[in-house]
Formats: sequence, C-alpha cells, structure tokens
Amino acid sequence: MAQHTPSLLLMLLLCTLSANASFQPALVLEMAKILLENYCFPENLVGMQEAIQQAIHSGEILQISDKKTLAAVLTVGVQGALNDPRLTVSYEPNFVPVMPPVLPSLPKDQLIRLVRNSVKMDVLENNVGYLRMDRIIGEETAAKLGSLLRDNIWDKLARTSSLIFDLRYSTAGELSGVPFIISFFADPEPLIHIDTVYDRPLNKTRELWTMPSIIGERYGKKKDVIILTSKRTMGAAEAVAYTLKNLKRAITVGERSAGGSVKVQKIRIAKSEFYITVPVARSVSPITGQSWEVSGVSPTINTVAKEAIAKARSLLAIRSAIPKVVQMALQASKVLLTKWADGLYRSVVDFESLASQLTADLQETSGDHRLHVFHCDVEPESLHEIPKIPTAEEVGYMIDALFKIELLPGNVGYLRFDMMVDIEVVRAIGPQLLKLVWSKIVNTDALIIDMRYNSGGYSTAIPLLCTYFFDAKPLIHLYTVFDRTTDTMTEVMTFPNVRGQRYGSSKDLFILTSHMTGSAAEVFTRAMKDLNRSTVVGEPTIGGSLSSGTYQIRDSVLYASIPNQVVLSAITGKMWSFSGVEPHVIAQANDALSVAQRIIAARLLKKEQGN
Ligand SMILES: *[C@@H]1O[C@H](CO)[C@@H](O)[C@H](O)[C@H]1NC(C)=O
Ligand SMILES: *[C@@H]1O[C@H](CO)[C@@H](O)[C@H](O)[C@H]1NC(C)=O
Repeated sequence: MAQHTPSLLLMLLLCTLSANASFQPALVLEMAKILLENYCFPENLVGMQEAIQQAIHSGEILQISDKKTLAAVLTVGVQGALNDPRLTVSYEPNFVPVMPPVLPSLPKDQLIRLVRNSVKMDVLENNVGYLRMDRIIGEETAAKLGSLLRDNIWDKLARTSSLIFDLRYSTAGELSGVPFIISFFADPEPLIHIDTVYDRPLNKTRELWTMPSIIGERYGKKKDVIILTSKRTMGAAEAVAYTLKNLKRAITVGERSAGGSVKVQKIRIAKSEFYITVPVARSVSPITGQSWEVSGVSPTINTVAKEAIAKARSLLAIRSAIPKVVQMALQASKVLLTKWADGLYRSVVDFESLASQLTADLQETSGDHRLHVFHCDVEPESLHEIPKIPTAEEVGYMIDALFKIELLPGNVGYLRFDMMVDIEVVRAIGPQLLKLVWSKIVNTDALIIDMRYNSGGYSTAIPLLCTYFFDAKPLIHLYTVFDRTTDTMTEVMTFPNVRGQRYGSSKDLFILTSHMTGSAAEVFTRAMKDLNRSTVVGEPTIGGSLSSGTYQIRDSVLYASIPNQVVLSAITGKMWSFSGVEPHVIAQANDALSVAQRIIAARLLKKEQGN
C-alpha cells in the first residue's frame, strides 16, 4: 500500500468531509486514535493525529446530522486517504459482536468431526492424489489430532505420484497451519522463510518458517503439485497458494482468489454507535516482498473454478509425458557417454559429423525423431524471428510464388501452398489473396488442399485458415496448445468473423499429404481430420512439433533442438502423438491427387444414382 504524507492524508479526508457539510470532530479524533493503535500500516499514519487536530481547530469541520451518511462519508475519506478498501466506518446501533469459537478448546471428538467435514482426500486414476481442504487447520488443532491426520491424510498422500490440492472452497482457517503444509511439500533442509506477519495491536512481528521435522512422511519437492483456487478461496488458503506458487513448488489453476486479510477487526469508536473495521495484521512474503492480501493470488492457468479440476488432470497428464521426453534424452545421453567411453566417437573428425552422429544416436535411443543436435559457430538466430511484412509492390509477386490454384473437372477446386505464412503477413496480403486466389475456388463443389510439399512455417494463421471451412456459428474449438516454457495452455478456436466468403462446413474437402508434410501444415491437417472436416489422402506426415526450443550444449558450438510445445486434441483432450498424421486413404504422394479425384468422382456418381 502506498505511503501518504500526513498533509495529503488530511487533505483527502477533509476534502471529502467538507464537501458533505458537517460531522462531529470528536468522532474523527477517536477514529484517528483507533487507527494509530490498530492499523497494520502505522507508517502510513505518521502525523495524522496532529494534522486532524489542527484542522479541527481551524474550524473547517462542520456537522453532518444523518448518521448513515456520516458513516459513508467517513468510509470514503479514510479509504481514499489510506488507499485501503478494507477500512470501513459503519453506523450500527444494534451491533452485537460475535466471537468465533476458539477451535483448540473444543473437545476432541468435535475437532475430529470438524476435520472430517473440512478435509477430504482421495487417490484418483494414475495414482494422482486429491486433497480438498476447506479449512486450514491451525497448529494447535493439528498437534491434538497429530497421528489421526498423519494416518488418514498425510501418509496416504505421500505415496501418490502427483497431487491436486483443492483450495477452491477454502474460506476459513488459521495462518499457524501454513508452515506445516509448506513443509510437507519441501525438503527438511534448507529451511525456508515463508511469511512475515506483523500484528499492530501486539506490535509484534512473527516470521513463519518451514519446519525441520514434521510428523509423518513428506511429499518432498519433486512431485507435481497443482493447486486449485476460486474467487472464494480466502485467508490462510491464499497464504498457502501464494507461497507454493511463488516458491515455484506448485502450479495454480482456477480463478484469482478473494484477496482476504490476515486479521481484520471491527472496533467500536469510543462510546458511539459507530464502528470502524480495521486490518490489524499484515503479511509480507519474503519471496516477493508483497502479499496475497487484497489483491489475491492470480492463477498460473486461468479457468473458471468448476473446470479447474479437469484442467489440472489434463495438465498432469501432459506433465507426466514431459519427463519421458527428458528421460529419453537423458538415457540417450547415458548411452552416448558409454559410446564415448567405448571409443565409438573416435572416428569423428569435426563438429559437423559429431552433430549428425549425436542426432542419429539420440533419435535412435529416445525414439523421438524431433530431437536434433546441430553445429553452429555463431549463436543461431531464433527460428521464430519476426516475419517480414511485404510491401505493396511485393504482394502480387509473393502470392504468385506461394499459391497455386486450378479448377479441376467436375467443379473441383485445387489449392496448393508450400509454406504456412504468419498471420500478420496473411492480413497484409488479405485483400489481394481473396481476389487473386480465394475468389476463384470458393464457389467450387469440392476442394483439394495440397499439403504434400508444405513442411510448415508459422502456426499463427492455422486458426484463420481453418475458420474458412466452418460456419460463423458455432465457434469451433480446433485444438489446445500447451507451452512448457511458460506452463500456459491456450485453446485455439475458429474466428467469429473473417474477410470474404467462407467455404462453409458442408462441402467436401480433401487434404493431400506426404512424408514431407510437417509442423504447422501437419497441425492444420490433424485439426481438420480430428474434427471430421476433411478426408486426408496420401502418406503419413513427418510428425514434427509445432515449436522447438534451441538449447546450447554446455558452452560448446553444439546446439540441441528440443520440442517445447504440445498440442492437445479438442475432441479427446489427449496429446497429439508426434508420430505423424495417419491419412484416411493411404496413397503414394505422387498418386494422392488422382486418388482424391477418383473418390470425388465416385461420390458424385453415388449422389446422382441416389437422385
Ligand atoms: C513497537 O516495538 C518497537 C520495538 O520492537 C518499538 O521501537 C516501537 O516504538 C513500538 N511501536 C509502538 C507504536 O509501540
Ligand atoms: C468423427 O467421426 C467419427 C467416426 O465417424 C466419430 O466417432 C467422431 O465422434 C466424429 N467427431 C466429430 C468431432 O464429429
């Protein structure tokens, strides 16, 4: 929260007040006193009392007769002055304070019932643990129920392979329970400083640290943990989510949490019927220097709360596949080291041949032919450099070079392009493209798209291209991209509006493939096949990846190219395999066009006979 100078504070308070006629100075003085003694950001209050006193003496303050109005005016004044929305003044002549029950003092059987009602654990498919905690159990309660919690919850969870930790309904609990939970997901050493809590009325600062020993087994810090949050997740649960997220120990999935407070109190202003609600304690994370209070915990992956669990499960499925790739590479590198020890690389004479030998060995041992090692004296430029937008003069030439169209017998269109262009380029050449290419084939009865010589390019225009082969409504979910460098998932959809006329969703569409069809061309083909929008004719495709990261091997002149994006089917939610698209009709690439034409002719004949 920003610090205000006393004069600014006063000005804000008084501006609001004098604009609304009058109020009682004594009340404001009492209010200021309460803030000075209880507000958890005392540094923001420096000089406030003197300033208010001075203002009262200068006679600027008048009277407001309606008490509710006065409360509202004071709320606006104090919130504005201290920039804290939690501060409110209320007029409540019938207020009865409720004391929350002090949990640890409850009898043990009641405590057990409470825990049963607020903690649920399960083991899902693939040994995925599920823990739902609607209340963060405080230190003292946990100590009382120690062995019970250990046997029924923690030890069972510790045996799972990954965990979904559901805090979507966690709206209550105690901060003192946070260190245990964080410790469960950490190693005994080093100890981690997780929170600093300052309590203003006690004028005490307390540091929360992980614990050197806990009862029962730890989950440790290696296995995947996904925390689910909702906009209701509040208080101690936010401290848990915030800490594990910022320690990079968990991925959070769901909605931004409520943004509660460590401790808020409603305090009566002197003997009046006015109350002021004041945050009396504050939390600062030593990891971020900030807090989950007020602003909440933002999720790593944003999704509505009720879909969070499905998202988490598919995320875990993907993540369980990633180590496989990494492991394959590791195993491969072990094999490579053995080969090195056995002297099998002795014949290698330069980096070029070493790179190709390593690539061959890596692919063979990992079974993933997308892994590549290459040699480069200068640092390689990113494969995804900014595409060049053609100038007006270049457009016509570019379209000519890129697209080939034909009208085949039987009003069948044919479209071939050998490169997937970036969407910005497509937009730039759009009007010309529609005129020179699209307008000539859009009114055909069937269309053959030739991807046999298309080894890929940019993936940005795939959804636009797909959109032309569906109707405006409903929007179609084409596929989902998971980027493991950022841990983000993006659902790729058709666009609601496109320039020009659509081909629509009902006319026959054929895609021709070859063993050269790769990367973005492959994604387009697979999406259209997945959605039953096209018949694929030709050879199985390469099985490339949408995007690969380039990593330098130690400090050498060798680089490895490793796939870093995973595409998930919109239909099954499962990962698309990297083994290439299997055509509906297998044909040699050279014959694919005539095979497609024969199918079209046969369908046409059948239709006519049907009529
Ligand atoms: C709070 O405690 C510190 C010492 O721990 C002391 O310097 C400070 O004056 C105290 N503040 C108040 C308002 O009592
Ligand atoms: C596509 O067709 C197959 C087989 O006819 C069917 O099982 C599947 O549900 C269809 N998918 C869509 C998205 O219509």
